[in-house]
Amino acid sequence: MAFTIAIDGPAAAGKGTLSKALAAEFGFAHMDTGLLYRAAGFRTLSGVDPVDAALALEPQDIEADNLRTPEVAQAASRVAAIPEVRQALTDFQRAFARRDGGAVLDGRDIGTVICPEAEVKLFVTATDDVRARRRHQELVNKGHDLTLEDVLTDLQVRDARDSARATAPLKPAEDATVLDTSEMSIAAAIEEAAEIVRARMTQVS
Ligand code: CDP
Ligand code: CDP
Repeated sequence: MAFTIAIDGPAAAGKGTLSKALAAEFGFAHMDTGLLYRAAGFRTLSGVDPVDAALALEPQDIEADNLRTPEVAQAASRVAAIPEVRQALTDFQRAFARRDGGAVLDGRDIGTVICPEAEVKLFVTATDDVRARRRHQELVNKGHDLTLEDVLTDLQVRDARDSARATAPLKPAEDATVLDTSEMSIAAAIEEAAEIVRARMTQVS
C-alpha cells in the first residue's frame, strides 16, 4: 500500500535529517529531491543546457559528493525555476511517492505539486540564523572553507528565488503541519514528526 510523507521547507531547515529518520523508523524509502535539482544545476556549471541536464539525469548522478556546495545549490535554485526542468523530473518523483511500502520525499513542492494526496505533509522550518549556523557547521565539518555570512547569503538568496518563482514555489501546503525546529533538538523534531505519522497511520488503516 502507498503511504507518502511529504516534507517541504526552506534551505537547511532539517528536512533531510528528519526524512532519513522517519524512513528508518517506518521502513519507508527516502528520496532527497533537492539532489535532482543539484545534479542538474551542477551540469549547467559546465555549460550544459538546463532542460537537457534534467532530461539526461541518471540515478548515479545524485550520488556525486560534490553537490553540497553553495555554488551548486545556487545553480540548483536557478534551474529549479524553469518549468520544463521541473516537468522533466515530475513523473520520476510521483512514481517514487506512490510506490508500495511507503515513501518519504523531501523538497519544496512535494505536498503542493508532486504528491498533493500525501498522507502526511510537514513543512519544516527554522529561523534564518539557526539554519545558517547549522549548515555552516555541517560544511565546515566536511572541510569547506566558508564564512557564516556566505552560508546565510546562499540560504536567503535561494529562499527568496524559490518562493518567488511562478512554478511550484516554496510554500506550505494548506493542509501541512508546520514544524519550527529553531529551538528543537534533532531528537525532539524526529519524535514530534513520528507521532504525527503514527496518528495518521491509525486513521488511514
Ligand atoms: O535537508 P535540509 O537542507 O533541510 O537540512 P538538513 O541537511 O537535514 O539539516 C541541516 C543541518 O542542520 C544538519 O547538519 C543537521 O544535522 C542540522 N540539524 C539540527 O542541528 N537540528 C535539527 N533539528 C535539524 C537539523
Ligand atoms: O539542502 P537544502 O535545503 O539547502 O537544498 P536542497 O533541498 O538540496 O535544494 C536545492 C535547491 O533545489 C533549492 O534551493 C530549490 O531551488 C531546488 N528544489 C526545488 O525547487 N524543488 C524541490 N522539490 C527540491 C529542491
